[in-house]
Formats: sequence, C-alpha cells, structure tokens
Amino acid sequence: MIRIRKSIRVARGVADCYRYLVDFSTSEQWDPAVYRAAKRTPGAPGVGTEFDVTVSLFGRRRELRYRIESLAPGTAIVLCGTGAGMVSEERIELVADGDATTVEYRADFTLTGLLGWSKPAARALVERMTGAALAGLRDALEIDTTPPRQGWRDYIADRSLIAAAPSFTERGYLALDDKAHSEFMDDRVVVVTGATGGIGEAIAAEYARLGATTVIVGRDAQRLAAAATRVRDFAGCAAERVTTVEADLLDLAQTRAAADALVAAHPRIDVLVNNAGALFAERATTADGFERTFAINLVAPFVLTEGLMPALGAARGRVVNMSSGGMYLQPLVLADLNFAEGRFDGTKAYARAKRGLVALTRHWARRYAETGVTFNAMHPGWVATAGVAQSLPGFNRALGRFLRDARMGADTAVWLGASRAAGRINGEFFFDRRPHPTAVLPNTRVRPSEAQQLHGWLRNATGMDGHGVG
Ligand SMILES: NC(=O)c1ccc[n+]([C@@H]2O[C@H](COP(=O)([O-])OP(=O)(O)OC[C@H]3O[C@@H](n4cnc5c(N)ncnc54)[C@H](OP(=O)(O)O)[C@@H]3O)[C@@H](O)[C@H]2O)c1
Repeated sequence: MIRIRKSIRVARGVADCYRYLVDFSTSEQWDPAVYRAAKRTPGAPGVGTEFDVTVSLFGRRRELRYRIESLAPGTAIVLCGTGAGMVSEERIELVADGDATTVEYRADFTLTGLLGWSKPAARALVERMTGAALAGLRDALEIDTTPPRQGWRDYIADRSLIAAAPSFTERGYLALDDKAHSEFMDDRVVVVTGATGGIGEAIAAEYARLGATTVIVGRDAQRLAAAATRVRDFAGCAAERVTTVEADLLDLAQTRAAADALVAAHPRIDVLVNNAGALFAERATTADGFERTFAINLVAPFVLTEGLMPALGAARGRVVNMSSGGMYLQPLVLADLNFAEGRFDGTKAYARAKRGLVALTRHWARRYAETGVTFNAMHPGWVATAGVAQSLPGFNRALGRFLRDARMGADTAVWLGASRAAGRINGEFFFDRRPHPTAVLPNTRVRPSEAQQLHGWLRNATGMDGHGVG
C-alpha cells in the first residue's frame, strides 16, 4: 500500500472549496492526469454518488470508478476509487484558515496491476501525480482577474490558418493551462439558445452547475424538456433553476416573442449566449424572407440581443456570440446578405453569417459601451456534435477521433460569461479563453462603418428599434 499525505493552502473560503470538490467530476478541470470525468449518478452529489474518471497513464487511457463513501458537509469528502490497476481511499479535508482554506489530502493506494511490481517506482509516480493534481486544484480554485492577452505563439499561428488548425481539435483544449469553472453564479440568470443538444446543452449544464438560473431556448417542447432534465441531472440543481422557452429562431415573430417573455420573467439577465446555429446545404428562405443560414446565425442573435437589452442593461450583463473559425475564410457581403446572387454554397453562407456575427459583436460593444453590457464572440474549436455529423459528414468522418467533445467546445462560452477576468473585456473574438484576430486573409476585415451598415440593415429588416445611440 502507498500512503500519501499532502496539503495545500487555497486563497478561497471553505464553502466554495467544498462545493467545487464535492462534484468530483470537476477533477477533469484541475487534475492533469484526468482526461475526462463525469458524474454517473444524477442530481446533487451525496454519499453513494459515482463518477467515471478517465486518466491518461503512460500514454494510454484507463478507466476508474470513484464513489463518495462519506461526507462531513462543508468539511470533508471521502472517496473510493477503483480501476487502472489500483484501489484508493482518498480523504479530502477542508480547514478554514482566515479567508483561505487548507486542503488536507490523505490517500491510501493499493496497487493491483502492473504498477504493483515496483513499489518505489509506483510511489514516485503516485507522489508526482497527486502533487500535480493538488497544484492544479489550487490554481482552479484561485480566482484570476487578469484579462488574457494574445501570446506570441497564437499571434504567429493565427496568421497562418493551417498552423492554427491542429489547436481546433481536442489537442488545443487539452493543452489549456486553465480549464476551471469555479466562479459561482448564484442569483445570476443565464439564457442559452440552441441548448437542446451539442455545445449549447453543455454550456447550459456548466452554468447551471455554477449555480446560475439557466434558461434554455429551443424550438421543440419535447427536446427542451429532455435537455432541461439532463442539465439538472448534470448540475445537481433544483428543478426551478433550469427553465425553458420555446421558440423557432428561424421565425422572427417567435424570436421577438421569446425575447419579450424572457424580459418579463427576468428583468435582469446576466448572460445571453447566442449559441443556436446551423449550416444548410440548400438555399431556402424563411417565412420572413431571409436565407436560412443567415437567419439562424445572424438575424436571430440580432433580434434576441436587441430584445433583451433592457434586461441585459439592468444587470450590466454579458453577451457571448457563438461564431466559427470558418468565418476566417469569407468576407462579409453587405450587398447580398441573403446570398441570392451566384451559386449558393452552404459552407460559404455559414462562414459569411458567422463573420457578420463577429462584426456585429464589435459594433455592439462600441454602440452599447455606456450600458455596461459587454459583447464578445468566440469559436468553440472543432466539436463532435449531431450538427457537425449531419451538415459536414466528410469532415466528421475524417477528423472524428480528433474532435473535441461538447464540454470542451463549451469551455470558452462559460468562461466568457462567468469569469471576472472575461468581464473586463469587450468586443473581442475568443478561442480557448484568449483573444484572437478577426481577419487574416486579404479583404476579410470588416470596417466599423460596414458593421454599422450591417446593424442598420438588420434593424430595418427586422423592425427592432435598438436601445443605444447612433
Ligand atoms: N460543432 C462545431 O465543430 C462547431 C464549430 C464552430 C462553430 N460551431 C457553432 O456552435 C454552435 C452550436 O453548434 P453544435 O455543433 O452544438 O450544433 P448542433 O448540435 O446542431 O446544435 C444546434 C442547436 O441549435 C438549435 N437550433 C437549430 N436551429 C434552431 C432553430 N430554428 N430554432 C431554435 N433552435 C435551433 C438546435 O435545436 P434542435 O434540437 O431543435 O435541432 C440545437 O440545440 C452553432 O452556432 C455552430 O455554428 C460549432
């Protein structure tokens, strides 16, 4: 048996440390050896809750099952882990130390597999792994308020799209220094569109776990109800913390009605994530006369955001717009926003609409600067979702095993709405928690005057009045 005793001091209160740790699936955010972790047992973590934890050991993925054996609410968590050639009993004790917390970690590891052959080597390995895990935990719990800047490596990679592409896979996410979501959002309201599956559902689930009242917007009552149940199961929150609003965002009247209903129910909205999006191979127009790709990716976020401005302003809230790296390849075509001219190409239409959304984001940031609402856009990386499998089957087949999962794709959208560091940034385009340039190829830069024209066009076409100046 290998016995480990370690402790760290974390600049965070005991209650927050306990709340974060008791859902042990957060270990994927702070333990560098953990590839993925998931809570198997729906609901709030308690004695008997089980977690599936996939660790990377010697370049191979191994599965462990953890179970909460006992809890001293607010002060101690005892877990038992089995798998990957070991059985462990791990006790995490939290001791108040002024405003900070001392985390005492005690674990007994019994090695049953290959690791058991050489006890000194195994001890060194376990010492190293637990040390790295605790250092990661300390970083995850400490709140960094410094807004991130683009590093020189990103700067070079961004200017050669091909060099940047590998980071769009899960490799990019796994290399992130900080994957933590530990800044709780009790008493805040978050609205996420397109949260009946894929990245949007993962975004909603993480916000709900952070304690936000989470409203998911979707077009199908049954899919909405099923998604709300999954989000509650993941977050372990009370039923009333996750609510739904039904609207087909391809329909102008329904989108406006959704905005009105949201403002009536929530006079203060802290975060709006315009995540719903789609890529259509064939050209068709909505009942309101918009080309569908343009309608869902640009018109709907416009209508919803403008409609929610009173509630977003009241909370000095944040808007997160889900764009795509595909937008780098296309300019904004102001003269033909509905792609009525030339041969229709769904991928181009999608990239143009996402480019428009990024331009609009920057415009909103300027236009509404005095409201205190911030606007940022982002790219989630390449993520394995039903949407990708359906709209880009070739891409999905070729890159399948390298793609991110939905939680990886959701990471930056949660960080932008939840973290204090991101609250200090306005009008930027993010990928993996860092700002990136919006135009790399010639003639793809959108000038402020063009973004203003886009805004004016959308106002005229949708009849939305706007709440800002100019
Ligand atoms: N996956 C990627 O690699 C990737 C890369 C770059 C950007 N993105 C962007 O990330 C966002 C999420 O993508 P995803 O891959 O998670 O897509 P997804 O699996 O297709 O999910 C799209 C979501 O949007 C909803 N939606 C679509 N049309 C709607 C409508 N008319 N009204 C209301 N809701 C509607 C869908 O609801 P239903 O359940 O009703 O269909 C679903 O919840 C999109 O904006 C996408 O463009 C994704």
